Amino acid sequence: MHLPENQWYPVLESGEVRNKPQAVERLGLKLVFWRSANGEPHAHIDRCPHLGAALSGGQSMGGRLVCPFHGFEFDGTGQCQHIPANGRLGKIPKGMALTGFTVREEHGLIWLWLGQHREVLPKVPFFPPLETGWRYGTVKVEWPVHYTRAIENQLDVAHLAFVHRTTIGAGGRSFVDGPYVESDAEGIKVWVSNSVDEGRHSRSQTELAAAAFGKEPSLSFLFPGVWLLNISPRMKNFIAFVPVNDQTTLYYLRVYHRIQNPLLAKPYEWLIGLSNRFILNQDRRVVVTQTPLKSADGEDRLIGADRAISQFRQIHARLLEATRPEQMPNIDERA
Ligand code: FES
Ligand SMILES: [Fe+2]
Repeated sequence: MHLPENQWYPVLESGEVRNKPQAVERLGLKLVFWRSANGEPHAHIDRCPHLGAALSGGQSMGGRLVCPFHGFEFDGTGQCQHIPANGRLGKIPKGMALTGFTVREEHGLIWLWLGQHREVLPKVPFFPPLETGWRYGTVKVEWPVHYTRAIENQLDVAHLAFVHRTTIGAGGRSFVDGPYVESDAEGIKVWVSNSVDEGRHSRSQTELAAAAFGKEPSLSFLFPGVWLLNISPRMKNFIAFVPVNDQTTLYYLRVYHRIQNPLLAKPYEWLIGLSNRFILNQDRRVVVTQTPLKSADGEDRLIGADRAISQFRQIHARLLEATRPEQMPNIDERA
């Protein structure tokens, strides 16, 4: 998969990674995720360097990942520590090691660093307003689409009156005043106001900027794939977009709220999750029909209301350009 590199990708929810190794496809890679005895998560290419068996069929024992085929044991860094057939005193050949990735566990997600090894890595991309005092419920949804189409759909402010006519887009507010968009290499912020078409022109970016000043954006996106919809001071929707492969994208869709009592929070999360799933399904019906699979400027003719989409495309293209294949040490080992 051709992806922007030197980025933290959210790849799984924390609860999905257990001690037991499991096969997970993410970012076009066949990976094995497991936890060592201290609970630390690890990710490696799901292939034993001995004879190529899938390590996901093995076990996690005493902080080591054990291959199911000949029992080779690998530590969290991927280094082989024991080859049973060579005996306890036997030597471990150099290079008997797994291709691994740096992972972090933050905000209830597992993040994988795709890119060059660095001593000091940047922080995982997350929204400061979500950092404290919130609870959340997650819904996981898989779509047969390329991640560019999935993300652009959530930056699209002109589809609500059509795709969501019966839900959040009721009322025929088809006219998009702006939107006002700010962006940089890290992400995109969008201030939207849609209304019924009363024959006015859209305000200029300068006027919209003045109106947006001091206000939280309606929605924000951080590269490579998290999104925040500012519904109210006490409720936000969040999505982690996870590229599985070129044809598949996963959504970890969360409602963030401030209901602390779990007896009330759980049913609330369930109800909002149900409604979010329904709304997202309205999008899905259309997005799966978009061609080509990956969004492409050569094929689509954007309009002013698509400003956030065009910003996404420009920054995404720059990040892709900055990703030269030779920067990746283990490029040929990737599926
Ligand atoms: S294939 Fe893994 S130990 Fe032989
Ligand atoms: Fe939508």
